[in-house]
Amino acid sequence: MKKSEIVHRIFHDHQVLKPKQPKGLAFAPTNIALCKYWGKRDPLLNLPVTSSLSVSLPDKGALTSMMVIDKEDDVIILNGVPIGADTSFKKRTSDFLNLFRGEDSIKLHLDIQMNIPVAAGLASSACGFASIVASLNDLCAWQLQQRDLSILARIGSGSAARSLWNGFVEWHAGVSPDGMDSYGEPLPFEWPELLIGLLPISHAEKSISSRQAMLQTVNTSALFASWPRKVMQDLIILKQALHGKNFSLLGGTSESNALAMHATMLSSWPPICYFLPETIAAMHKIWQLRKGGLPLYFTEDAGPNLKLLFLDKDKDTVVESFPEVEVIQLFDR
Ligand code: DP6
Repeated sequence: MKKSEIVHRIFHDHQVLKPKQPKGLAFAPTNIALCKYWGKRDPLLNLPVTSSLSVSLPDKGALTSMMVIDKEDDVIILNGVPIGADTSFKKRTSDFLNLFRGEDSIKLHLDIQMNIPVAAGLASSACGFASIVASLNDLCAWQLQQRDLSILARIGSGSAARSLWNGFVEWHAGVSPDGMDSYGEPLPFEWPELLIGLLPISHAEKSISSRQAMLQTVNTSALFASWPRKVMQDLIILKQALHGKNFSLLGGTSESNALAMHATMLSSWPPICYFLPETIAAMHKIWQLRKGGLPLYFTEDAGPNLKLLFLDKDKDTVVESFPEVEVIQLFDR
């Protein structure tokens, strides 16, 4: 199934990029998966093997403003810097915009501002594509439902399907080959005492993109066969934990899910290892603190940085133990 086919299914019209106002503007938060998306059943449409569950960081993400320009090519500015035509970011973004262009091939000027490190495992593509889709929705007055925006954002980057909402979001894997049943859905839980800490280890660009790493894992890891069952169990437990506000269950399940994902990567060939020595040292420190009675857990994505999970009552102890941590409030209090 071609990507353009999905756009046609949503709009029933080939030329959908018809600006209705001078400027489109939208913000999308980044999200941290507590149960990870790892492995695709369709790499072209970013259809996942399993469902996943995340929580959004309400003030961290991408703000995209866009307008039509009279130029040969799109212009993309990321954090004030024009992106070169030969970069993969530019190509990926322009290819995505092509899905919406008609024969007049309107070109756009995109100004994307991200307040998270780009390409260092902090889901920059998730908030990036979600904000681009929401900004197109604004520019062209599509007035699409969030669910349709989630499907479109997913075509840009899988995890972007979860970045259309704040709070906890489940991305349903779906079973349909066209992916029309593969979208994010906000979960009706709030947990004002739950905090996330961003623990920077390295902001260097990742050695291998999550897209490539996922493909390599699916194709070569013997452990990947056990991953869908692990996810199925973890999703059930995480929802129980959210329902009962059981923090140790939430933290433990999230940490174990992340480690299982990294185990599939380590067992792929060539091996994929996002851990740096400092990542492992921080893990040991967390386990040590937990042994001492501090309810502190972590999760890790396709990069060396850790995201800490803890409750508001333990904030001071966590900050004392990790002075470099940036504490993120997930819900209004
Ligand atoms: C480890 O969404 O970046 O962060 O669909 O190829 O764009 P593509 O991959 P991407 O992968 C994210 C992987 C992850 C886990 C997660 O966010 O669920």
